[in-house]
Amino acid sequence: MEARRHGGAEGGGEADADHVLAGHRATPLRGSPFARNAPAIGVAIVYGVASIVWLAAGQVLPGGRWLVTHLFTLGVLTTLLWSFSRNFAARFTGVGDLREPVAATWGLTLLLGASITATVTGRAVGAHWPLVIGSSGIMLVIAANLVTLRRLRARARNDRFLWVVHRYEDAHVVFLVAAGLGGALGSGLVPGEVYLGAREAHIHLNVLGWAGLTVLTTLVVFGPALLRVRIEAGAEKRASDAVTRAMIGLGVGALGLVLRSLGRSIGDGAEGPATVLLVAGMAVYLQAVIVVAIPLLRAARDHDRSPLRFSLAAVVIWLPVGVAIDTVLLMTGQPGWSVGLAVALLIGVFAQLILAVLLYVTPMLRGRDFASRDVLIARTEQLPRTRTATLNLGVVLVLVADLTPGLAEIPAQALMRVGWALVIVAAVAHLAVALWPLGRIDPGRVRSAAAARYRGPPG
Ligand code: HEM
Repeated sequence: MEARRHGGAEGGGEADADHVLAGHRATPLRGSPFARNAPAIGVAIVYGVASIVWLAAGQVLPGGRWLVTHLFTLGVLTTLLWSFSRNFAARFTGVGDLREPVAATWGLTLLLGASITATVTGRAVGAHWPLVIGSSGIMLVIAANLVTLRRLRARARNDRFLWVVHRYEDAHVVFLVAAGLGGALGSGLVPGEVYLGAREAHIHLNVLGWAGLTVLTTLVVFGPALLRVRIEAGAEKRASDAVTRAMIGLGVGALGLVLRSLGRSIGDGAEGPATVLLVAGMAVYLQAVIVVAIPLLRAARDHDRSPLRFSLAAVVIWLPVGVAIDTVLLMTGQPGWSVGLAVALLIGVFAQLILAVLLYVTPMLRGRDFASRDVLIARTEQLPRTRTATLNLGVVLVLVADLTPGLAEIPAQALMRVGWALVIVAAVAHLAVALWPLGRIDPGRVRSAAAARYRGPPG
């Protein structure tokens, strides 16, 4: 299935290869397999631009760090996790499509987008009801998706990828718990003694659970397509077992977090055993992440078929690095969510992966024939190393500025500023590659290395 998807000119839904070989580059193509993701991608781009504007303006805009974190984690990340998990589940179960009218997909996407807007503005301006209504709307859309995923699993026409849908369902359940906790934190329902523990549980369940488990699962089955390679023999089974272990590790870790927080608040000396539980859970999660990362790193190193390989390699390096940093911070009892950790996981892993996926799907979504897809793919092949290096240098600088003990304030601030500037420049460059107008296209000219590889000699 994977081989077929990336074996075509540029992904599934292509006209047949004969047309390419015969040079029918103006032949209209069938709809993209990612067409159902288009509304969510649009919403995510709007929130992505809002996050970039907030980062560029610094503290001038209202809402504090919370706002920019949730513009990204809800507006961009959650919208895409929701949309891609349902689309992949439909395809992996062989059901093919979601079997709902396109208008329903648009309606759900807009409901999710509006709920997120209510949540973030409600919290930013301190308005209780928009926050409550918005959070409830988000949870409703995710809960409805959970039902859709279960239905798709029940109707599956093959069982090879059932584990994928199962893990997506688990991640959805984790989201519902974590978002409920977030809503309770935001509405002032959580008592002061356990506030910090509940906040850390909210962050970890969302970042490593909702986003982490969905992304780990998707990387196993979609990572090879991004790299245009086949899944390594045996790697899928090892990785699927690893994702199950990651889930168990996260559950144990979250229990440790809550128990430690309770132990601290009542001072009964339970902190030590709870920390052991917490660190053991995180260690299991970390080991699982490494199992998923290794075959992808190997493939990114050994094959040069995709310009996205640099981004993907960076993603699967930052993921274990971020989890390891988090584990050390939790172990040493430091506040569990620093700017450095946010940049490693939210930018190094999730934003970087999203930008890579955006470049992967854009030619399929915007290119209506082979010639225009070719132009769009050729753009992604321009300067991929530079784009990736800029983003990752930015992440490293912010991380170093935040986590180096004893670094004086002025150099730390300078590093932080340069780091964020590089992140912003790289994000804007990715968006420009994806969204720049197509212009006039010469159907006779082959531009991308990918198209050149698939085009045979004429005749
Ligand atoms: C309905 C959805 C959500 C609500 C109502 C919500 C609410 C909250 C609240 C009230 C806090 C604590 C603020 C504080 O006391 O410092 C918080 C922090 C945080 N949440 Fe959420 N959240 C939601 C979804 C998410 C998601 C989906 C993610 C990640 C995937 C996430 C990641 C975080 C992070 C990283 C922080 C720490 C922010 C910082 O201080 O830098 N949240 N959230």
